[in-house]
Amino acid sequence: MKALVYDGPMDVKVKDVPDARIEKPTDVLVRITTTNICGSDLHMYEGRTDMETGRVLGHENLGEVIEVGQAVDRVKVGDLVCLPFNISCGFCENCERGLFSYCTTTNPEPRMAGAAYGFADMGPYSGGQAELLRVPYGDHNCLILPPEARDNQVDYVMLSDIFPTGWHSTELAGLLPGETIAIYGAGPVGLMATLSATIKGASKIMVVDRHPDRLALVEKLGGIPIDDSKGSPVDQILEHTDGLGAHRGAECVGYQAHDPQGHEHPNMTLNNLVNSVRFAGSMGVVGVFIPQDPGSPDDLYKRGEVAFDYGMFWFKGQSMGTGQCPVKRYNRKLLNLIREGKAKPSQIVSHELSLDQAPEGYAHFDKRDMGWTKVVLHPNGRR
Ligand SMILES: NC(=O)c1ccc[n+]([C@@H]2O[C@H](COP(=O)([O-])OP(=O)(O)OC[C@H]3O[C@@H](n4cnc5c(N)ncnc54)[C@H](O)[C@@H]3O)[C@@H](O)[C@H]2O)c1
Ligand SMILES: [Zn+2]
Ligand SMILES: [Zn+2]
Repeated sequence: MKALVYDGPMDVKVKDVPDARIEKPTDVLVRITTTNICGSDLHMYEGRTDMETGRVLGHENLGEVIEVGQAVDRVKVGDLVCLPFNISCGFCENCERGLFSYCTTTNPEPRMAGAAYGFADMGPYSGGQAELLRVPYGDHNCLILPPEARDNQVDYVMLSDIFPTGWHSTELAGLLPGETIAIYGAGPVGLMATLSATIKGASKIMVVDRHPDRLALVEKLGGIPIDDSKGSPVDQILEHTDGLGAHRGAECVGYQAHDPQGHEHPNMTLNNLVNSVRFAGSMGVVGVFIPQDPGSPDDLYKRGEVAFDYGMFWFKGQSMGTGQCPVKRYNRKLLNLIREGKAKPSQIVSHELSLDQAPEGYAHFDKRDMGWTKVVLHPNGRR
C-alpha cells in the first residue's frame, strides 16, 4: 500500500510499504478515505520528538471497513467508521474510568499508558495517512457513522481528534454557560475549542494568535480575535474582562509556543494564562508538552522543565487539567451535533489533497503559511 513515511526532520515521503492487515482476531481493517494532518504531526515532522524514521504517520482517520477479525461482532464490512486517535482496550482500569487516552493495555512499554496511531512514544501502531489502517479492538474503537456522513466526511473526520480535543480543553477548564474564556492558539485545536465554547454558551471567547487567516476563523466561529503581535495579549484580555481576567483558560499551542517574532518560549502560553485567568479560575492544557526535548532552544526544557509562574498560579488559587484527550468520551455526542447541523467543524478546512500531495501539505501547514489552516488528505481518491 502507499503511505506517508517519516524519514527524518522536515522529510516525509509517500512510499510503498507492506499492507496493513488483520493481526489479531479483535482487529478491524479500514480502507482510509479521509485523514488529516495535525499540529501534533508537526512536532514529529520537525524532529522534536522520539519518532522513529520509517514509520507511517496519521492519527485523524476515517474510512470504510473492508475486513473484520473473527472476534469482532459489532462492526461489519462496509461500515463507515471514524477512529479516535487514541487506541484503547475498553477494559483496563483507566478505560473503565473513561480515561481512554491513558489505556494501560495498548501501550506495550511497561511504565507507559496511552497509545495512538503513528505517534511518538505511544506504541508501535502504524498511522492512517495511508491506503489501509489496522484498528486494534475494533468493536470498542470504531465509531460507526450514519449514512449521510459518506458525502460529508470532512465534518465527521474531525471527531477523530481536534473537535473532541477542543471540547476537552473546555471540559478540563470547567467552562459553564455565561462564563468567559481565554484561549491561546488559533490553530485547528484552538479553533475547535472556540467552537466548543460557543456551543457551551460562553459569554465571551477571547482567542490569541497572530496569523490573520486563523484570527479570521476565530471570528467566524464566535470568538474575539486577540492579535498578540499588536500588543500584550494579557492586557487585551484584561481589558475585555473589567480587569479581572477570564473565568477559564485553554492552552492550545504546546511546548513549541513562540513569540510573534518566532523565538520559542515553552513557558509563554502557560504564564500568559496564569495572568489572563482570574482568581480561582481554572484552565485546560491540551497543547502537547513532552518529558524531554533535546532540540529545545530553552535549556530548562531540554529536560522537559518549564519556568512556570507557580507562585502566582498558587496565589490566585487556580487549577489546571492537562493531557491527551480521551476522544471516545465525547465523539458520539459531538457526532450528534454535526448530524443535527449544530456544529460544522469543517469550516476550518483549507485544503483537501491526495496522499501524493501530503509532503507539500506538511511543508505549508508546518510554516503556518497564509491560508493553510487545516489539511485533509484523501488516500483512496474518494471523499
Ligand atoms: N491533547 C491532545 O489530545 C491534543 C490533540 C491534538 C493536538 N494537540 C496539540 O495541540 C497543539 C495545537 O495543535 P494544532 O493542531 O491546533 O496546530 P498548530 O500547532 O498549528 O496551532 C498552534 C497555534 O498556536 C499559535 N501560537 C504559537 N505560539 C503562540 C503563543 N505564544 N500565543 C498564542 N498563540 C501561539 C500558532 O500561531 C498556531 O496558530 C499542538 O501542541 C498539538 O500537538 C493535542
Ligand atoms: Zn491530531
Ligand atoms: Zn484500556
